[in-house]
Amino acid sequence: MELQHTQPWLLITCLLSLFFFSSSLDSPQCNKGEKPRARGVRFIKSEGNTKEAYNVYLKKPEKNSSSWGDVILSAGALSSPQILMLSGIGPLKQLQRFNISVVANLTEVGKNMQDNPAISLWVDSKPKWRVPDTPQVTGITDNYKIIIESIVVPTSPNLTRVSIAGKLAFPSSRGELELKDKDPRANPLVKFNYLSEEEDMEACVNVQRKVEQVSTSRWVTFYLGNDRNGLKKLGEGESREYCKKNVRTFYHYHGGCTLGSVVDKDYKVIEVSGVRVVDGSTLVESPGTNPMATLMMLGRYQGLKIIEERLSSS
Ligand SMILES: *[C@@H]1O[C@H](CO)[C@@H](O)[C@H](O)[C@H]1NC(C)=O
Ligand SMILES: *[C@@H]1O[C@H](CO)[C@@H](O)[C@H](O)[C@H]1NC(C)=O
Ligand SMILES: *[C@@H]1O[C@H](CO)[C@@H](O)[C@H](O)[C@H]1NC(C)=O
Ligand SMILES: *[C@@H]1O[C@H](CO)[C@@H](O)[C@H](O)[C@H]1NC(C)=O
Repeated sequence: MELQHTQPWLLITCLLSLFFFSSSLDSPQCNKGEKPRARGVRFIKSEGNTKEAYNVYLKKPEKNSSSWGDVILSAGALSSPQILMLSGIGPLKQLQRFNISVVANLTEVGKNMQDNPAISLWVDSKPKWRVPDTPQVTGITDNYKIIIESIVVPTSPNLTRVSIAGKLAFPSSRGELELKDKDPRANPLVKFNYLSEEEDMEACVNVQRKVEQVSTSRWVTFYLGNDRNGLKKLGEGESREYCKKNVRTFYHYHGGCTLGSVVDKDYKVIEVSGVRVVDGSTLVESPGTNPMATLMMLGRYQGLKIIEERLSSS
């Protein structure tokens, strides 16, 4: 799966190495007690190679102002932890494995990766043309833990497949993200450990039951114009097996730079200055349904706070 096109690094230096950008990019030398400071971003073009990197620097503070501004990282749960690590912020051992000079030994970067386990049941509708349809109605049940929705996918003029899927909110299984390569274009290694906690497995069995129940309901049967004889009820053991074999993603990955362990309450990366992460990687818990609205609100809220901070300090 190709996820990245243009991939930035962060340039981390200390304030006093201001005049030594080129020689100190990879070897920040900080005074005692001074946190390393992000000074800009390095990027490559999507069609370029890593040797042709471009640097963009933050503007020097105006006289009487101590503010350098911040680099705001919003690359998502799969890329934000990766970019921090490539910039030298992450678990020491991993950075050393790739000879990345260590800016901050922040062991929680890449930890607490989460994804919501989902299962979907495909049922064929009676030969009848239907238009593709994204989810229009979402069913939320079991104390907001189970979200059921459906999509319609016509596969040919005489066949329409309908997916009835259930997603589990607030899973307790946690995974991890690690670097696979020093090249920022390489995808990192990500393990979500779906259903590794018994609690999640039991919840998945429950999701499977709900999906089964909805698929065989009178109204779904009426809509699809199909008898659901093909769907036989699964027993307890079969449901667990079904979950194991069919667990899938709704692409709501989150974690990796979580609030309280990698970023502070202002979404600033702890142990360094001048870097904030504002995206889904900071979520300790994802909202039950799609997280876009929550993330847009997070972006706006943090943006307004940053503007206020600037205005009050200038
Ligand atoms: C900087 O601050 C000093 C003392 O507060 C003031 O006298 C001076 O005019 C300020 N300089 C600028 C460029 O704002
Ligand atoms: C790290 O540096 C050592 C010594 O220069 C070298 O042998 C090793 O191959 C490097 N490892 C990586 C992943 O670049
Ligand atoms: C890096 O951080 C971990 C966890 O806090 C700690 O156990 C380890 O000793 C640290 N390594 C160094 C070299 O500071
Ligand atoms: C769908 O229609 C095509 C041609 O019109 C036919 O070859 C095919 O067998 C049909 N498939 C089904 C599932 O009825």
